[in-house]
Amino acid sequence: MSSDNTASVVQTRLDGEVLVVSIHNPPVNALGQAVRAGLLAAVEQAAADAAVKALLIVGEGKAFIAGADIREFGKPAMPPSLPEVCNAIEASPKLVVAAIHGPALGGGLEVALSAHYRLALPKALLGLPEVNLGLLPGAGGTQRAPRVMGVKAATELMLSGKHLSAKAAAAAGLVDQLVDGDDVTAAGLAYTRGLLAAGAPVRRTRDIEITDKVGALAELEALAIDTAKKARGLFSPLKIIECAKAAVNLPFEQGLAHERALFVQCLESPQRQGLIHAFFAERETAKIPEAKAAAPRAFAKLAIIGGGTMGAGITVAALDAGYPVIMVERDAESIARGQANVEKVYNALIAKGRLTEEGKAAIMARYTPSTSYDDLQDVDLVIEAVFEDLEVKKAVFKELDRVCKPGAVLATNTSYLDIDAIAAATARPQDVIGLHFFSPANIMKLLEIVVPAKVSADVVATAFELAKKLKKVPVRAGVCDGFIGNRILAVYKQAADYIMEDGASPYEIDAAVRGFGYPMGPFQVTDLAGGDIGWATRKRRAATRDPKARYVEVADRICENGWFGQKTGRGFYLYPQGARVGQPDPEVLAIVDAERAKKGVTPRQFTPEEIMRRYMAAMVNEGAKVVEEGIALRPLDVDVTFISGYGFPRWRGGPMKWADMQGLDKILADIQTFEQEDPLFWKPAALLKKLVAEGKNFDSLNQAD
Ligand code: 3HC
Ligand code: NAI
Repeated sequence: MSSDNTASVVQTRLDGEVLVVSIHNPPVNALGQAVRAGLLAAVEQAAADAAVKALLIVGEGKAFIAGADIREFGKPAMPPSLPEVCNAIEASPKLVVAAIHGPALGGGLEVALSAHYRLALPKALLGLPEVNLGLLPGAGGTQRAPRVMGVKAATELMLSGKHLSAKAAAAAGLVDQLVDGDDVTAAGLAYTRGLLAAGAPVRRTRDIEITDKVGALAELEALAIDTAKKARGLFSPLKIIECAKAAVNLPFEQGLAHERALFVQCLESPQRQGLIHAFFAERETAKIPEAKAAAPRAFAKLAIIGGGTMGAGITVAALDAGYPVIMVERDAESIARGQANVEKVYNALIAKGRLTEEGKAAIMARYTPSTSYDDLQDVDLVIEAVFEDLEVKKAVFKELDRVCKPGAVLATNTSYLDIDAIAAATARPQDVIGLHFFSPANIMKLLEIVVPAKVSADVVATAFELAKKLKKVPVRAGVCDGFIGNRILAVYKQAADYIMEDGASPYEIDAAVRGFGYPMGPFQVTDLAGGDIGWATRKRRAATRDPKARYVEVADRICENGWFGQKTGRGFYLYPQGARVGQPDPEVLAIVDAERAKKGVTPRQFTPEEIMRRYMAAMVNEGAKVVEEGIALRPLDVDVTFISGYGFPRWRGGPMKWADMQGLDKILADIQTFEQEDPLFWKPAALLKKLVAEGKNFDSLNQAD
């Protein structure tokens, strides 16, 4: 019997006694309804055909199966369900083999676990990453993975969401056979024929006994304690552990039913909405007009100007991505410090056993220290990270203009400065762009790509290509004071200051913000970054500050005492003997009281909910202004900025998604209430008013192409 269904997303072809079932659902063979139906039909076809002795499931293209089709979540269920398909595969009277050559993730691995045997090629990736989407494996994965690879290892895999390489998966017992090469169908056919020739039996995962139940339950208990500590508000991790317990305690069918019930709870949770929004938003931010209009310029050799905190971090990011890097500093002493800053990162990895001396030497062989701009004649892309001072930066760009070859991309890592003005210092503003990394630049995922007026589209496309090569999450931003992230941060930080002066302590505010899901509150962040940085900015801006705007002086009083945070042992908190976790400081509270008294403020109580309503309203309102002005292309760009660069809890989807889930009318009503206290600060964004009037949400703007 040969195929009569070549147009289908699941195609079958009889090759001798083996029915080859191949999935063609680009880009990643997600298990949409048509794939599920096709797989079920293939199992039924094989059962009905005496000529078929075995089924071989393979994926076409780059993936085996990347999991359930995430776009279907939240929509009405369409039969057959994935659990039904997996159960049918497992129950097949004919031998079923899964041959995996690429990602087999989530539902994809659940299909493979339902097969009777598994083969993997070198590029296979196996995992149960549902936890990253606020879910748990919902097609038998929580019951089958523990039976195949052991309860503890399976639960750790599900909790971490990690992808295992083919080798690691084989070592964990998830894969029966590893094969070299890249022809998955040929390898799968050879393996399946070998199994048939050897008389290998149908081997159903459901029939595997978990033998050491007591030991497994003890391990799960330990994992539950650890997870409760680490999960920070996440819903699905503890449910995953419950499912694993069910795998140990209950017969298979009941375990499946338990998994189903908990999967549905996860599916219905707002966390699933937030996390899936984040998943797609992170992929959308690279879809920008310039990338559609122009191809990136080629770049092979990079230069970084400045070897301080950021210059060194960016150098490490570029070295880690395999690029040769020239670092230019002011003088011999500064470049020695710059090199030491880079080496410090690798030395720390060596100390942790994650890098060898030889590995470090191989990386550092691509690093060239220099004190001369004349060494930059053949570089393709330069990133400047010198002091945050417009005149210093202009002078650097004049030099770059003098020495760099035509077509070299010239980027600045400025946090706030006007990039149009920096570009104007050169005779080639079409080549000048902002690349705003976050500290530590070799670790933080966010890269704001700031697009000045005169830059050409291919330079923007090049910046996005660089982000991909450095494994960063790029977000396109327009030029304004602070771009997307720091501009919005300045506003909600101001809201936090107002709440403090009006009655909440900095410690109550930090606690409320942590309770929302952030790892740290705003005053802890100030102490970590160093209070002197913000103080210098405030002093610089004092002359241009609107005299009518409310200004809270508490942080200035603290800095005047030389209390700059962790590095000086005290800031908003006390850090005795170099402690990293701060303790509340009664003297800071006295400063706050004195400032309130000076302004005639009678302090009032704030609940954590009231604190967060104001904090988030300020963030969302400024986010709306940033979108309205075109500084961010879409609300989702604001979401990704805050998730990847500012510690916003990913499971809430970002500030704009969070606002949508609250209801924009409620947010606007709050802002209008606060506006009566302070009309200058709490002016509602026109976009927010417009969306509420039209009954729309921010997400409606994400859909527009
Ligand atoms: N459903 C729908 N679309 C998906 C998808 C999925 N499961 N996985 C990826 N896509 C889409 C992406 O959105 C992207 O679309 P776009 O081109 O329109 O932007 C396209 O496929 C390519 O994806 P990537 O850009 O991420 O491609 P990469 O090659 O970088 O990565 C991957 C491939 C490793 C498979 C990565 O896409 C991935 O991790 N996907 C998600 C895997 C996952 O979480 N699976 C579990 C799903 S939940 C589940 O299975 C529930 C079950 O237990 C019942
Ligand atoms: P830093 O003070 O640690 O380093 C600046 C370095 O630039 C110094 O090593 C200095 O010697 C060098 N330098 C000064 N003038 C130079 C010149 N003409 N030629 C070559 N080198 C020169 O500063 P940091 O924190 O690394 O900041 C650098 C830039 O990155 C600033 O624009 C800052 O706003 C921005 N930035 C900083 C972040 C942070 O968290 N520190 C985050 C994102 C951006």
